[in-house]
Amino acid sequence: HGIWAVIPAAGSGKRFGGEVPKQYLEIAGRPLIAHALDALLAHPAVEGAVVAIAANDERWPGWTSRCGKLLLRCTGGAERADSVLAALRALPAAVAGDDLVLVHDAARPNLRQDDIARLIAAASQHPDGALLAAPVRDTLKRADAHACVLATAPRDGLWRALTPQAFRRAALTSALERARVDGVVVTDEAMAMERMGAKPMLVEGREDNLKVTTPADLALATYLLSL
Ligand code: C5P
Repeated sequence: HGIWAVIPAAGSGKRFGGEVPKQYLEIAGRPLIAHALDALLAHPAVEGAVVAIAANDERWPGWTSRCGKLLLRCTGGAERADSVLAALRALPAAVAGDDLVLVHDAARPNLRQDDIARLIAAASQHPDGALLAAPVRDTLKRADAHACVLATAPRDGLWRALTPQAFRRAALTSALERARVDGVVVTDEAMAMERMGAKPMLVEGREDNLKVTTPADLALATYLLSL
């Protein structure tokens, strides 16, 4: 069975500031999205990728293949989950309902092969799928609107959800469709699956698989990719 990658890259990147959407910021002469795509396509089990691009995106380079593998594009939507759903619908018909799909943020350029391999191994064994995650290391505070501490949340058992997240195509598609019908904004694929009663496996991933959200993140990702 082939595994396909799905890359939501239709965000405007407003939190970063500036006019270049963050997936097109460059590290070592390549946009973040190229780093993300090439890491996934370098894995031998990954057959190809679908990228979800904003309708008004004038920067998409028009790639139809990378690393000798097929690259498809589709138009993304208003929320991340809409973009992922559009990409799932754009997968080739040959992708079976129980084939794994790896969903990975375009803005995470520092994805390593060993994390991909361990994620695929876990998701292949686990019917409810799997996602990379990192245990929370800081003490967590809940605050009111004035940044006054209300409580300390125990961090035992709390993880940060990373990407890629690996689920079976048909199950993920129906979970995302259901979230949309219910009017619930899901911020990752696992959340959509959890709403359907699934219990995805957490696979401890590298802390440095960071999502570029601020200029400081870009500087850090640039350094990490130079190692
Ligand atoms: O904004 P955030 O950092 O959560 O975005 C994570 C990923 O989801 C990015 O790669 C972004 O391009 C993508 N996204 C999308 N469609 C949206 C919003 C975000 O594909 N409507």
